[in-house]
Amino acid sequence: MKLRFLFVTLCLWSAQSANAQVVYSHASNASIRSPGGTLAVALRVNGEGRPEYSIARNGQPLVNWSRLGFILADAPKLERNFELERIEQKAIDDTWEQPWGERRYVRNHCAELRVSLREKTAARRQLTVVFRVFDDGVGFRYEFPEQPTLSQVNIVQELTEFDIAESATAWWIPGGEWNRYEYLYQKTPLTEVAQAHTPLTLKTASGVHIAIHEAALVDYSAMWLRRVSGQRLKAVLSPSSSGPAVSRKAPFVTPWRTLQIASSAPGLYMSDLILNLNEPNKLGDVSWVKPFKYVGIWWGMHLGTKTWASGPKHGATTAETKRYIDFAAQHHFRGVLVEGWNKGWDGDWFASGQDFSFTEAYPDFDIVALAAYAKKKGVHLVGHHETGGNIAVYEKQLGAALDLYAKLGIDAVKTGYVADAGGIQAMGADGRIHFEWHDGQIRARHQLHVVEEAARRHIAVNDHEPIKDTGLRRTYPNWVSREGARGMEYNAWGDPPNPPEHETNLVFTRMLAGPMDFTPGVLSLTGAGGKRIQSTVAKQLALYVVLYSPIQMAADLPENYAKYPKPFQFIEDVPVDWSDTRVLNGEVGDYVTIARKDRNSDDWYVGVITDEQPRTLRASLDFLDEGKRYYATIYRDGQGASFDGDGHSIEIETRPVSRNDTLQLKLAPGGGQAIQISTDLGRRGPRSSPKPSPKKKPPEFDVE
Ligand code: NOJ
Ligand code: CA
Repeated sequence: MKLRFLFVTLCLWSAQSANAQVVYSHASNASIRSPGGTLAVALRVNGEGRPEYSIARNGQPLVNWSRLGFILADAPKLERNFELERIEQKAIDDTWEQPWGERRYVRNHCAELRVSLREKTAARRQLTVVFRVFDDGVGFRYEFPEQPTLSQVNIVQELTEFDIAESATAWWIPGGEWNRYEYLYQKTPLTEVAQAHTPLTLKTASGVHIAIHEAALVDYSAMWLRRVSGQRLKAVLSPSSSGPAVSRKAPFVTPWRTLQIASSAPGLYMSDLILNLNEPNKLGDVSWVKPFKYVGIWWGMHLGTKTWASGPKHGATTAETKRYIDFAAQHHFRGVLVEGWNKGWDGDWFASGQDFSFTEAYPDFDIVALAAYAKKKGVHLVGHHETGGNIAVYEKQLGAALDLYAKLGIDAVKTGYVADAGGIQAMGADGRIHFEWHDGQIRARHQLHVVEEAARRHIAVNDHEPIKDTGLRRTYPNWVSREGARGMEYNAWGDPPNPPEHETNLVFTRMLAGPMDFTPGVLSLTGAGGKRIQSTVAKQLALYVVLYSPIQMAADLPENYAKYPKPFQFIEDVPVDWSDTRVLNGEVGDYVTIARKDRNSDDWYVGVITDEQPRTLRASLDFLDEGKRYYATIYRDGQGASFDGDGHSIEIETRPVSRNDTLQLKLAPGGGQAIQISTDLGRRGPRSSPKPSPKKKPPEFDVE
């Protein structure tokens, strides 16, 4: 087995080529094509010595000439009087393995163009722009080389632009507003975008799909996009309390500015460009990072029936946690999250976090006994550090807090930064508290510090109210998931709650960045005060496949799962780690069908969701192995099901299928469908489903 693995690895790596080549110097422009020739990128310095780039797709303009450069706080701006000093090209084709993910092997196949610019003026400052051009997108970043005339770099703003050539529809949430990322997505013409977070998703009039985002956001401030005029967008760096948005010492590199580009929405999701532009794993052996499903003391607080604070409704009691541990053990969940276990929740913790202790439990929560009890049952507690956005208080206690978890065998922590945007409290170099953005340079530094400290203790991190995902899970595989969009909690208390189209928007916007801890699976379909969740039960199941995360919560209360044992079986069965992923169809904000192959068996899982429209979609099962007999257990919206009607109407059936079948997927308004396709009928499927005869094909089955 080991030998076979070695052979596969050698074959994959033998495809590598790193043939750097100096192409030309003292030219005024440079260009490069993607490996298959689909995309072409050009860079030029114009008459004023301003560097600009453009992108064409299949010979058609996609991004018109767009500016590059910087405004600095204490030196002339870096944007004109440049000449090209050196142009280098190289081809890159390697394949690497993800420790966990949507697919096991990822191909990094692109052409690199490296253009060194130098000012013609006395200072002779240097700036390098590096492009990586894939057939499904472009990444570029700036490198600040070590140089005598520019050492401390204080960046006020980036001048990077994206001038989209064709008229387009945009799906976006506002950037730099009072909330962080928890908005409903707007669909507008691109010409109506104001200032947006990334990923910003576009569909041009001719049907090209583009998602603008960034990769490897390290020690830098996040990029928002502001529409300057027409279809021209400009980078805006999330500000800092201390003046420049970014302060760095040269040499350093900026994050990659990325454009994923495809002819369809599924093509956007299938792109691995963001991961490919991140550095390889820096942590070495990460076999201690375990993908897992979890339950937890959580939904009750959002419903208002329990409290994080101490008192008669305190959720995190020893007895209640034991109940969750027993439930997790019985239903094979590895994790039990417990929120409200530690001192500090009693006052006004929102945007304050002053009182939090990350080492002291409330007296009615025996953390030592519970960690031991969990271990005995084969379950792991999942830690929780809510900071109220106060990273000054948290950073002081971080080492001790993580040491406590490591000692107790708690190997994953959910962190939280509940404060409005701009409400992160950080200790400045002047010894005073400064208010920072959730996605500024200070937060970027803090978040990586937490991830690195956790990694040293073999602890995985899932941050809520996070800085956006830019693919750093590749470099730090213990950074397993995060929030960063409206999750399930909005269905408890959100005003308005998440509408049926929300998740169909997420797949082609937020999820392009990386995993999300959405916390699906509320089978009761009931929020706070009895409010109806705008979904069907079948859609709740489908979300486990559609919204990827290597950690997935079964968010509902155990007593609710007891009421719905048949659909709950899917939540028990569905894996969280995949060897392959295919998006079978989809349109941004309308519907999507995703098939994923379990990393630990030959089984496939399919998730399908729709917005408020009922639909019948078709999906070929041609991804299944030739000649193999499979059994599909289908969890489908039942008679009369809809997001505002009977959400609990569900049909569950098991039937034989093969790669020659095409499924007809009937979806109720706001509904979905979840399918488990297994080679082993005995091992899986609903506990109570009768074994169908493989020869009999019941007429009501939706297979052609
Ligand atoms: C917001 C998080 O998204 C939620 O999951 C958590 O329960 C609360 N903060 C409290 O930490
Ligand atoms: Ca949240």
